[in-house]
Amino acid sequence: MDLRGVKVLITGGTSGIGLATVEALLREEASVIVVARDKNKLAALNNKHDLAGIYSCDLANSKALITLGEQLVNDHPDLQVLINNAGIQNNIQFDSDESTTHKIEYEMQANFLAPLLLIRTLLPVLKKQQEAAILNVTTGLALVPKTNSAVYCGTKGGLRIFTQALRNQLAESNVRIIEILPPVVETPMTVGRGSNKLHPDKVAAAILSSIKGRANEVYVSKTKLLYWLARVSPAIARNMMRRLG
Ligand SMILES: NC(=O)c1ccc[n+]([C@@H]2O[C@H](COP(=O)([O-])OP(=O)(O)OC[C@H]3O[C@@H](n4cnc5c(N)ncnc54)[C@H](OP(=O)(O)O)[C@@H]3O)[C@@H](O)[C@H]2O)c1
Repeated sequence: MDLRGVKVLITGGTSGIGLATVEALLREEASVIVVARDKNKLAALNNKHDLAGIYSCDLANSKALITLGEQLVNDHPDLQVLINNAGIQNNIQFDSDESTTHKIEYEMQANFLAPLLLIRTLLPVLKKQQEAAILNVTTGLALVPKTNSAVYCGTKGGLRIFTQALRNQLAESNVRIIEILPPVVETPMTVGRGSNKLHPDKVAAAILSSIKGRANEVYVSKTKLLYWLARVSPAIARNMMRRLG
């Protein structure tokens, strides 16, 4: 898909991978809509760039998400690409006091339920276009989990499997279903975590080339190695990731 003039909605476009993707899309002259919670960051981004729309919504709140979805259907009947990028990662021991039922539910809703509900709400619009795409941002941790973010790994593993099944369901339609699996990336999400982090521009470039090209499952940088290691020796891969903490 040539991105010039194409209308793209990205969640979590105010920071990290999402922000790098917004800027890369604008360089390609796409028309970009951004959804995130923080109104000030959205307004600052809109002042800097000429966006097609900004919407403040806590996507972990299903009611607010459905209302937003209905508004988007009205405002943007020409939407062609949906990028489900927004996400959070809590680094906590599952059985500690810090891991409250509220935190577990919030992370599940933001990372897993929100992309599903947004897809369900916007799919009728996407199906009306000649060409359309849905891109879900998962992670290498959807292949092999690390120890400290059990809920995060579970939500992303679930999103990965859902994405594969949805691709089967829509195989004969005009809507391509893409999954991007980044390794650890230098963003606010990973402050104090990991090393040798990838620059978000590299993930943005992988996102754009997958939409423009044909790849539907994109293992970015070190995630390629993890994918092959997990196939050749699942036990070694699991052990290695477990020791990462
Ligand atoms: N960083 C990594 O190493 C890495 C690796 C693999 C995959 N990923 C995935 O890549 C995606 C982006 O991560 P990132 O590292 O770029 O994160 P980030 O810098 O923390 O940015 C997260 C974005 O999502 C938005 N967001 C978070 N919770 C939201 C909610 N409940 N409702 C609406 N918007 C929400 C944030 O804006 P507001 O706070 O204003 O809402 C922000 O724009 C995530 O799905 C993450 O799981 C990241």
